Amino acid sequence: MSQKLKTLERMLSKSGLASRTEARKLIGSGRVGVNNRIVLNPDQWVDPERDRLTFDGKPVRAAALEYWLLYKPTGYITAARDPEGRPTIYDLLEASQKQLKYVGRLDQDTSGLLILTSDTRFADFVSSPESHLPKTYLVKSLGMLSEEQLDSLRKGVELKDGPTRPAQVKRVRYSSTSTFFEITITEGRNRQVRRMVEAIGSKVRKLVRVAIGPIEIGELPIGKTRQLTASEAIALSNFGASSARSSREPARQSQP
Ligand code: URA
Repeated sequence: MSQKLKTLERMLSKSGLASRTEARKLIGSGRVGVNNRIVLNPDQWVDPERDRLTFDGKPVRAAALEYWLLYKPTGYITAARDPEGRPTIYDLLEASQKQLKYVGRLDQDTSGLLILTSDTRFADFVSSPESHLPKTYLVKSLGMLSEEQLDSLRKGVELKDGPTRPAQVKRVRYSSTSTFFEITITEGRNRQVRRMVEAIGSKVRKLVRVAIGPIEIGELPIGKTRQLTASEAIALSNFGASSARSSREPARQSQP
């Protein structure tokens, strides 16, 4: 069975025509067709790419795919709901955005860029470990870190779930008690930056994700969302594809 199959009820609700409960009723009342035949079973599998849905004989079109950015503040959980009742990122969204899925997580004490989308293929692609999509964080860490310590982050440090891939690290400034630096990693392990900083004997005091691939946080106000432009969404997909390719293949020699 194709992994892309969905139930008829889900397809209808995803199209925006009806809620899932309403969709079941509409299907049961014989108003929904699949490939020109009325189907009464809401749990019937349909292939979104091939099967043609109709409602009262008229084509049902898929809802337009959406791509958003959220500047997540600290204190919010990246989850649909939290068993402990803490605020989640969905508390920051408008009613019309609640169907969106987040791509990758930021932990509760981390702020910054989070992608939200209704495009599950795009989400899988961007969050897949194989895409090696770079993510850039601004870090405030405890104490004055030496160049050797920052070099260890660049080369990769040993974590309990294995060594980290090489990272780009740029020191921004020192204060009397902290070091501010930017780090770009191409992995997305749980609390990775915090654990990397602990591995070099320091501690993260503040962590902000400022870029995902070519998408930068820019002037987006904290706690707010904005739509990705079509060219940003395409750039992000292409960026992921090219970084996945370059990590698998040796660089091509250009022909003389
Ligand atoms: N690294 C972390 O430690 N936390 C995040 O939320 C993201 C990356």
